[in-house]
Amino acid sequence: MTLRLFIPIDAAALAVGAEDVATAIRAAAARKNVTLEIKRTGSRGLHWLEPMVEIETPAGRVAYGPVTPGDAESLLAAMLGNGNHPLRQGVAEEIPWFKRQTRLTFARCGVVDPRSSADYRAHDGGKGIARALSLGPAATVEEVVQSGLRGRGGAGFPTGIKWRTVAQTPPQQKYIVCNADEGDSGTFADRMIMEGDPFVLIEGMAIAAFAVGASKGYVYIRSEYPHSAQAMDAAIAAARRDGLLGERIGGSDFAFDMEVRVGAGAYVCGEETSLLDSLEGKRGLVRAKPPLPAHKGLFGRPTVINNVLSFASVPIILDKGAASYRDFGMGKSRGTMPIQLAGNIKHGGLFETAFGVTLGELVDDIGGGTRSGRPVRAVQVGGPLGAYFPRALFDTPFDYEAFAARDGLIGHGGVVVFDDSVDMAKQARFAMEFCAIESCGKCTPCRVGSTRGMEVIDRIIRNEDRVANTALLEDLCNTLKFGSLCALGGFTPYPVMSALTHFPEDFGAPPTRLQAAE
Ligand SMILES: Cc1cc2nc3c(=O)[nH]c(=O)nc-3n(C[C@H](O)[C@H](O)[C@H](O)COP(=O)(O)O)c2cc1C
Ligand code: SF4
Repeated sequence: MTLRLFIPIDAAALAVGAEDVATAIRAAAARKNVTLEIKRTGSRGLHWLEPMVEIETPAGRVAYGPVTPGDAESLLAAMLGNGNHPLRQGVAEEIPWFKRQTRLTFARCGVVDPRSSADYRAHDGGKGIARALSLGPAATVEEVVQSGLRGRGGAGFPTGIKWRTVAQTPPQQKYIVCNADEGDSGTFADRMIMEGDPFVLIEGMAIAAFAVGASKGYVYIRSEYPHSAQAMDAAIAAARRDGLLGERIGGSDFAFDMEVRVGAGAYVCGEETSLLDSLEGKRGLVRAKPPLPAHKGLFGRPTVINNVLSFASVPIILDKGAASYRDFGMGKSRGTMPIQLAGNIKHGGLFETAFGVTLGELVDDIGGGTRSGRPVRAVQVGGPLGAYFPRALFDTPFDYEAFAARDGLIGHGGVVVFDDSVDMAKQARFAMEFCAIESCGKCTPCRVGSTRGMEVIDRIIRNEDRVANTALLEDLCNTLKFGSLCALGGFTPYPVMSALTHFPEDFGAPPTRLQAAE
């Protein structure tokens, strides 16, 4: 009998010992003369259960986790017997945390071998580009417009409209650039796609290229993601062999190829125009807009630049049709969002669901509260430039407009949870410090204002002229918000002001005493 096992090679699983677990299980099997077939996959995204090992059974893939190398012997015995083991979680897709998701973008992640284009095709891969080729470029753009897909990198700009702009520029060399800089705190969805289902990204980029008339693409990956860069390099080579990239894709006249570029560790290089500078071999400086990258992007040519998740959502939109995607979600936030639950949270990981789920459901119900067991005090949504929300705002639905209406943002879908030991004045100071460190230096409000912001917060914390300094901080935040060239300076006020507004007690005297002191 051959046991067919599945063990992730995703960086998160490797970080908690997945490779050692695979080695220990192989050694245990050799000792028992058991024949094993281990398929390496991406992660299912139930991070508290990693390393999660699955075994194929007639009922489906049964999961065990979190497995340590020391569990190898007993696990193998269980798998050879009735399957019972203290780490048994049941059929992976029936685990309630997994089952309540709507996995469209992540449909294959954790299921397929990310190195095999054959496995990709065996799981519906390639159907999106096939339909695009049959529809033609203009109808492909229209399909993406109709799906309601908005950019998943942070700004939420409609993807189809961006593609239409590039498609309408005169025929010339055009580029497709994938933003895989993923610098937001608590985010890892791009990494999971690149390491768990890289072909879906390649297919999405190829569809974009076909739609707008581009022939060359780049994936710009942050240097902190070596596993992703390796996975993408291998997948691109496999896609060329498979015919998903190269000349005459799908038997048509369409040709497209792409390569990986690795960044050098600057948060601001995730901003699309400084990313383009970096790709061109320059220091990553934000460019003033206009011109838009869609008109004058990489090397001055029309360029589609989208986030990993935006591209990775396109193949299923083309395959199943715009309406099937648009049917999910609320308001102007259509489809699903791969939400990343992180920080001090019991059940952290990747949770893909239709827009509309509330912050409270995400944190308390799905996330199970804090890992420390202490009360949740604050949640930062949308990365380092996102607002801190208190429990009073937990009824906010996950929706671009609903978050904006409460001075927040959903950004790239990162949710970072803090318990009651957090000091929100320190968090506010950290936001200014982060801005000062990561500022590209091009505009004054951000370059100088962030350092002045740290100093003002320090004075408030030290109780020096608190009322005057709080007014000064607000004034400074407005200067950053309205005077900065890009969202690094422009959005730093969100974490700062939300901390001050929702958690004033952390900035010294409670508001009532503050008033009395005036
Ligand atoms: C400081 C800063 C950092 C950013 N970092 C990223 C990033 O890491 N990944 C990303 O996709 N978008 C990032 N963005 C947003 C991009 O500028 C741009 O909106 C995005 O790549 C467009 O793709 P989308 O429409 O698919 O979201 C960042 C923006 C700013 C201002
Ligand atoms: S806001 Fe900051 S990061 Fe953005 S252009 Fe200005 S100095 Fe550069």
